[in-house]
Amino acid sequence: CGIVGYVGTKQAYPIVVKGLKRLEYRGYDSAGIALLNNKQINLYKKKGKVADLEEFTLGKSLEGSTAIGHTRWATHGEPSDRNAHPHLSQSGEIAMIHNGIIENYASLKEDLLKKGYQFKSDTDTEVLLNFIEDIYINNGGNLEEALRVALKRVVGAYCILLIENKNPETIIAARKGSPLVIGIGKNEHFLASDASPIIEYTKEVVYVNDYEIAIVKPDELILKNLGNEKQTPFITKLDIELDTIEKGGYDHFMLKEIFEQPKTIYDCLRGRLNAEKGSINISGIEDYLDEISNAPRIIIIACGTSWHAGLIAEYIIEETCRIPVEVEYASEFRYRNPIVHKGDMIVAISQSGETADTIVAIEKAKEQGAIIMGIVNVVGSSISRISQTGAYTHAGPEIGVASTKAFTGQLAALMMIAFKIAHHRKTITEERFFHLCEELSFVPEKVERILQMNDEIKAVAETLKDASDTLFLGRGYNFPIALEGALKLKEISYIHAEGYPAAEMKHGPIALVDENLPVIFVATKDVYHEKIISNMQEIKARKGKVIAIINEGDTITPKIADAVIAIPETDEIIAPILNVIPLQLLSYHIGIARGCNVDMPRNLAKSVTVE
Ligand code: G6P
Repeated sequence: CGIVGYVGTKQAYPIVVKGLKRLEYRGYDSAGIALLNNKQINLYKKKGKVADLEEFTLGKSLEGSTAIGHTRWATHGEPSDRNAHPHLSQSGEIAMIHNGIIENYASLKEDLLKKGYQFKSDTDTEVLLNFIEDIYINNGGNLEEALRVALKRVVGAYCILLIENKNPETIIAARKGSPLVIGIGKNEHFLASDASPIIEYTKEVVYVNDYEIAIVKPDELILKNLGNEKQTPFITKLDIELDTIEKGGYDHFMLKEIFEQPKTIYDCLRGRLNAEKGSINISGIEDYLDEISNAPRIIIIACGTSWHAGLIAEYIIEETCRIPVEVEYASEFRYRNPIVHKGDMIVAISQSGETADTIVAIEKAKEQGAIIMGIVNVVGSSISRISQTGAYTHAGPEIGVASTKAFTGQLAALMMIAFKIAHHRKTITEERFFHLCEELSFVPEKVERILQMNDEIKAVAETLKDASDTLFLGRGYNFPIALEGALKLKEISYIHAEGYPAAEMKHGPIALVDENLPVIFVATKDVYHEKIISNMQEIKARKGKVIAIINEGDTITPKIADAVIAIPETDEIIAPILNVIPLQLLSYHIGIARGCNVDMPRNLAKSVTVE
């Protein structure tokens, strides 16, 4: 979910609504806003997107210089007007928005029901709010104190904003596990889940820490811990420009972000990779080179697309560094009593740096003595702060829900780290290291050449748009790319897509093959090339339709496949970063051809801050 708040001297509604639009990628099941005017809370909420809320509020009284707003990704309770945030307390005196999950809501609710509370929604949020109100009524109406007492009883994750009728110029906020940034303006403050709603107004921000409460007025920001002790706010200067979070002439953020990749990959390599000298220097890992090199084991933890980057890193690190690597889904790792030894290196990969499962998984490993390396895109995010070592991917804000440029940024960072460690451990030769550095430096230009094939890829997309099922196959370094290609397609177009190791296909998925099943092969030149051509023949023999991503100059595959997309060649270790680009474009064009909302696919959210 995304949350926004404003206290100041301006009209709050347009600022909060604009902010919600910027945060819509975090969830878009429903949206709502509570405005405080003349000691009166006016509440507007609607199922659907922020635009539906705007339509709903047309012609209504939207006065007020204090407001809180929310865009929801449903957890407790279906998406509906009723379950949309903000929620009002039983007395109607307090309004609240919440991002996160209150795990012990059922027992809290039971107690409140016994006391005669009634609930208008199915949400855990309304339970927490009435729990706070119950304490508030008994403590003489001190909201800040009531919140503090309530939070000591709450199990779960939250970022909450509260306003009350009788205190028209104050927002009270608290966080544990879900992010909160406060922007400092002149006689005004902005609160949000990330900096994107804020950068238009101010570059000075405070990142609120877990277990902190913020009392925010137009001209005052007080931070306290749960023990009611004041904390000194640490002001950070934002380093993001407004144009990086706008569409800039593209129809969709997804397309813009795909096309930004020559630059974003270059930005990731810049200042770190020196191909002429044959050197890699990543400031965030230099102090930990020995720890990483001597780690008995590397465990990579991530979710979604970031997990696919982890799988590629496993192949690359084991090949070049000869250190055993495991790749884990964060949600599995955190609950399964994993074996972690002191000195094990945990690599957490996350675009947002806020994925709840990943955060908890690495905290758990850290407690057991592991060293945490973060590969994160969002500067200052929770995972970047928990990590001892690591590298930012420098892809800039990614707004499209389906990850594209953040993924190639992760690959670029992970490749540099792997090559650097391999060089340090002397598990690759000088020549090989030099060659890999050189090939990596050519990537941005080669990505540019692939993007120039956009029309050709769009034409292939046309032939696939009516498929109901698809299979993506690859081997070795390209097996995770097949997984990522399938994930992208199902996210964006709702076509069922499965990714599989090409040779494993004959142990099951081959049963699906008939003349209606398109099979997309990632078949660029590598040691498996002849083998994957045999797999293609197996599909053709069963009348399947073959589309292949191949390298320029391959004269054999075009004779077998129904369609090919021929892209520039690179070293097989680096190839995944190029091979994913045509698959991103393919998904985009298929999604558009099917009339899907590619930037905000149904049911998904970009940043999943609940488990
Ligand atoms: C969500 C997004 C995915 C993303 C995953 C992990 O499911 O929709 O695109 O890959 O979260 O997010 P992270 O920010 O940790 O990389």
